[in-house]
Amino acid sequence: MSFNPDTIRNIVVLTGAGISAESGIGTFRDKGGLWEKHRIEDVATPEAFAKDPDLVFRFYDQRRANIQAAQPNPAHWALAALDAHWPGMLTIVTQNVDDLHERAGARRLIHMHGEHLSAWCRACDARTRWHDPLAHRPPCPSCGQSALRPDIVWFGEIPYRMDEIDLALVDADLFVSIGTSGAVYPAAGYVQTARHYGAWTLELNLEPSQGSILFHETRLGKATDLVPDFVRELLGEEVLD
Ligand code: APR
Repeated sequence: MSFNPDTIRNIVVLTGAGISAESGIGTFRDKGGLWEKHRIEDVATPEAFAKDPDLVFRFYDQRRANIQAAQPNPAHWALAALDAHWPGMLTIVTQNVDDLHERAGARRLIHMHGEHLSAWCRACDARTRWHDPLAHRPPCPSCGQSALRPDIVWFGEIPYRMDEIDLALVDADLFVSIGTSGAVYPAAGYVQTARHYGAWTLELNLEPSQGSILFHETRLGKATDLVPDFVRELLGEEVLD
C-alpha cells in the first residue's frame, strides 16, 4: 500500500545525514560515525565551545573543508528536480549542515540545524557566508570583531525556522523522511505531526529508524536508489533522464 500521486499537492521532505552518506560525508550514528569519534558534549554544545573553543573550531573547520570536497549525489539531484517541477507546495527541511542540496539546485530548502558555510558573529549577530577556517579568529566582516562562531545549532540550542516547518507540516498531504535515524527532536517528531494532520507518511532509509513504526510506509535501501524512484513516482519517468 502506498500513496496516490494524483491526490498529492503539498509535500514536506525531511532529510538527514543518510542522504549525504553516498557523497562521502559521514553520518553521526552509523558504525564509525561522527559521534563514535567525538563526544557530542566535547564539540557540539555551547558549554563545549566555552570550555575549549579551539577544539570546537578545529572540529568544524575540518568538517567545513570536507563538505567542500564532496559532490551532490543522485538523491540530491532528484530532490532538486522535484523542487524545479513540483507545482504544489514543497518544503525540503534538512537536518544536514552541508550545502549539497543547494549545489544540486534545491531552492525551497530550510536548514533547521544551521550550515557549515555560514559564520555567526556573537558580537553583532550578523551571519556571513564562510568557506575558510575560523580557528584563527578572523574579524567579522560586519563589525570587525573577532567573535565569529560556526553557524550550527548545537545541542541545547533552538533549531531554525521551526514555525515555518510546523505550518508546512499542517498543510502537507505527503511527508517523506530520507536518511535519518529519528534520534533527535524536534525533527524526529515531524512524522507524527504530519500524520496527525492527514498526510501520508513515507520513510526512505538504509535500515529501520527509531521512528519507522510511526510511518504508513517504510522503504529500505540506499538513498541514491530510493529517492530517484520516489521522484519518478511523482513527476513521471522521463523527468530524471
Ligand atoms: N541511504 C539512506 N539512508 C542511509 C544511508 C544511505 N546511503 N546511509 C545511512 N543511512 C541512514 C542510517 O541508516 C541512519 O538511519 O541515515 C541515518 C543517519 O542517522 P544519523 O547518523 O543519526 O544522522 P541524522 O538522523 O541526520 O542525525 C540527526 O543528530 O547529531 C545530530 O544535528 C545532528 O542533524 C543531526 C541529527
